[in-house]
Amino acid sequence: MTHLSTTLDYMADFQIRVNNKVVDVDCDKNTPLLWVLRNHLNLTGTRFGCGTGLCGACTVLIDGTPIHSCDTPIWAIGNKSVQTVEYEENSTLQRIKSCMASEQAGQCGFCLSGIMMRATAHIDSLATLDRSSIADALDGHLCRCGAHNRIIEAIRQAGS
Ligand code: FES
Ligand code: FES
Repeated sequence: MTHLSTTLDYMADFQIRVNNKVVDVDCDKNTPLLWVLRNHLNLTGTRFGCGTGLCGACTVLIDGTPIHSCDTPIWAIGNKSVQTVEYEENSTLQRIKSCMASEQAGQCGFCLSGIMMRATAHIDSLATLDRSSIADALDGHLCRCGAHNRIIEAIRQAGS
């Protein structure tokens, strides 16, 4: 007796590793990672700002390197590991979150998830953590509230 196709035969369009879990995603190959995270995986901490790689709001880590998820298509992820602001097992990220809160660094907070991912990579790169190196690292991130000074101080504390 022949069995027709069942769910056992199902293969997702893509399998990617996000926050240390392998997840199935069905979407067009050119779908930006940002929309995969937000719309398919309900990881809405990653923000949509400009959509053209200019504001940094959508920054996530891929194999530890910050990238703009708004202009990175899902086909480019392959076997690499994606980390978003929701990831709880990254101790550097958790320290940064805690210092952001204690310094009351954000105002509206819209820019912060992207900034915290960039700052995580910056601290983990063992870069010199003075004000100027942090400001340089955050150069591509817009904060419309003008909370830069408190954000930089929070990052400096997290890395010290
Ligand atoms: S939304 Fe990606 S850089 Fe602005
Ligand atoms: S805290 Fe509002 S945009 Fe940065």
